[in-house]
Amino acid sequence: MVGAGLRPARAVELHLTMTIDPTTQTLAQIQATTADAIVSRFAEVRHRFDEQAVVHSTDPENWRIFVVKWAGRKSGVLTLITDNWLKPASPELKRVVGQELNQFKAHVERVLAERQRAIEATAEKTALARDKVDLSLPGIERAIGTRHLIRQTYDELLRIFAAIGFSVVAGPEIETPYYNFEALNIPEHHPARDNMDTFYIAGARGGHLLRTHTSPMQIRTMEKQKPPVRIVVPGKVYRRDNPDATHGYMFHQIEGLAVDTDITFCDFKGTVDYFAREFLGPRTKTRLRPSYFPFTEPSAEVDATCHVCGGTGCRVCKQSGWIELFGAGMVNPAVYGFVGYDPEKYSGFAFGMGVDRLAMMKYGVTEVPLLFQNDVRFLKQFP
Ligand code: DAH
Repeated sequence: MVGAGLRPARAVELHLTMTIDPTTQTLAQIQATTADAIVSRFAEVRHRFDEQAVVHSTDPENWRIFVVKWAGRKSGVLTLITDNWLKPASPELKRVVGQELNQFKAHVERVLAERQRAIEATAEKTALARDKVDLSLPGIERAIGTRHLIRQTYDELLRIFAAIGFSVVAGPEIETPYYNFEALNIPEHHPARDNMDTFYIAGARGGHLLRTHTSPMQIRTMEKQKPPVRIVVPGKVYRRDNPDATHGYMFHQIEGLAVDTDITFCDFKGTVDYFAREFLGPRTKTRLRPSYFPFTEPSAEVDATCHVCGGTGCRVCKQSGWIELFGAGMVNPAVYGFVGYDPEKYSGFAFGMGVDRLAMMKYGVTEVPLLFQNDVRFLKQFP
């Protein structure tokens, strides 16, 4: 549909030079019949050339067109002059036309060459400016992450035990009740299961659960190898605890187990002392408090002198001078029965550490959630 408001486009005003280009005509046609007239015609053309050369040399595309227009073989102005002025010229005028043409040609070639060089130089300069690398600019700094506090603590704990011959093993987080409880001498309905309530996998055959401690790896390791056994087991464990400042539904442990033909309570105490000194400083002392775990007999809670006050009492140790490190004990002979070890022949000790607890205690972190919120303001404090 033609809109009512549409008017025919206004005729484009053409800025055409109405004067015909003299080089498309013969000298006779432009009435240049004397030597003087010819010289002045050449002067005019040259003037036009010089003017245009200035205008068109600023842009590479224009410049290309300009060069063709003047020096193009087929219909450049130089060719036109040769064809229209020189060739048909009368014998008397031919000499002067020839001379003028040669001079003009030389001029055109010189100017074209000069401008060409200038254009290339400018292009090079802009390219250089574009690619220039400013070495004084500050570099791009990419933030590199650090090991998480838990990872750092793990690394430190594993280093301490590796140094005295413990090797590292890992095991499944989804366990059977047999490995998590029974084989560790925790029968069904035993009250020790109460504080180890966990998550059960719905519909799993034989009732799988998320392990409540890393102790099942004691059993799995002893099932597979004969003494001597010296292992540490880092890993995640799960419990159905209500989350608060010191509890989550998941935490990290390191289990330790040493079994051999001649391991005594002295070896146990010596190892505990060594660990406490390595982890908390060379002046640290330890004490054992009687405790109970079904898989150790006797069982103990290991305490260390407070790393902050050295044992005189402060806020960190709640004025007692002691901090609780971990649970441990001599392996209960009943456990050997589950793995086919001869309890008459072998003895050993075991321990189970809460890595989160140890990290928080050592580095003064008071809230468990801080460990898992991935807040860089917190993480940055442990570079
Ligand atoms: N498995 C125990 C828990 O999670 C910790 C523990 C205590 C592990 C004494 C041991 C040990 O190997 O001997 O509470």
